[in-house]
Amino acid sequence: MEEPFEAGAIIPAAGSGRRMNAPTNKILLPLLGVSILERALDAFLNSEFVKILVLAVKPSEKRIFEAQTNRLAAAFNKEIALVNGGAERWESVANALEYLRRWTGWKRRKRLVAVHDAARPLLTRELLNQSLAAGLEYGAVGLGVPLKDTIKRVDDDGMVVDTPDRSSLRAIQTPQVFELDLLLDCYQRVKGSGINFTDDCGVVEYCGRPVKLILGSYENLKITTPEDLALAEAILRRRENADRSRL
Ligand code: C5P
Repeated sequence: MEEPFEAGAIIPAAGSGRRMNAPTNKILLPLLGVSILERALDAFLNSEFVKILVLAVKPSEKRIFEAQTNRLAAAFNKEIALVNGGAERWESVANALEYLRRWTGWKRRKRLVAVHDAARPLLTRELLNQSLAAGLEYGAVGLGVPLKDTIKRVDDDGMVVDTPDRSSLRAIQTPQVFELDLLLDCYQRVKGSGINFTDDCGVVEYCGRPVKLILGSYENLKITTPEDLALAEAILRRRENADRSRL
């Protein structure tokens, strides 16, 4: 990473987590004693390149998040802003992008933005750095992993329509990294399209701009259903044991 650059992180955290069946926002649930949100922020808080984090949260949950983010901002000496989330993920990201567009703390000409789901607590610092480096090179980058399962397209009655060739398909993860101006421009252009974009690469693709995928990690889980919690804790335990045996 020779060219000097700086980055902002956008963390969409305004989901409802219906599939988790939890009384609170799922990202406040603990994994081995530390909340999913705090774990998802870790790589960004520790990155020298990331100058600001913008979390999109539900207005009704702002106060709960503020307590966590004030503590983290002080501990890591990082600016963390909260903006209102929207009804869909892409609207939450659009609100956070608008904040970054107006942010007056930028110092460098070369600016990246990394968008990362608050529900992915197992992102490593290495994978974040690889994503930033690729973002710098390609301008628009996502993480993808080969599919383990065969995928079938079905109709409304559950009848199989077809079986796409698995070898050319990828399951997509975050972070996704973009040149800030490119993502701002593409989000501006898709406004009013009526499409519910479920990831940010999709917004850039829709604008006809090239998107590079680099290899993600099967460990970079999105916590969606209760069984994901047990799996994530098992991975964290293994990482902690590996760290301990290195000491
Ligand atoms: O629902 P799903 O798990 O795909 O959401 C991915 C991420 O987007 C989560 O971190 C969730 O909090 C966030 N999200 C959001 N605003 C929404 C819906 C989801 O910020 N309206």
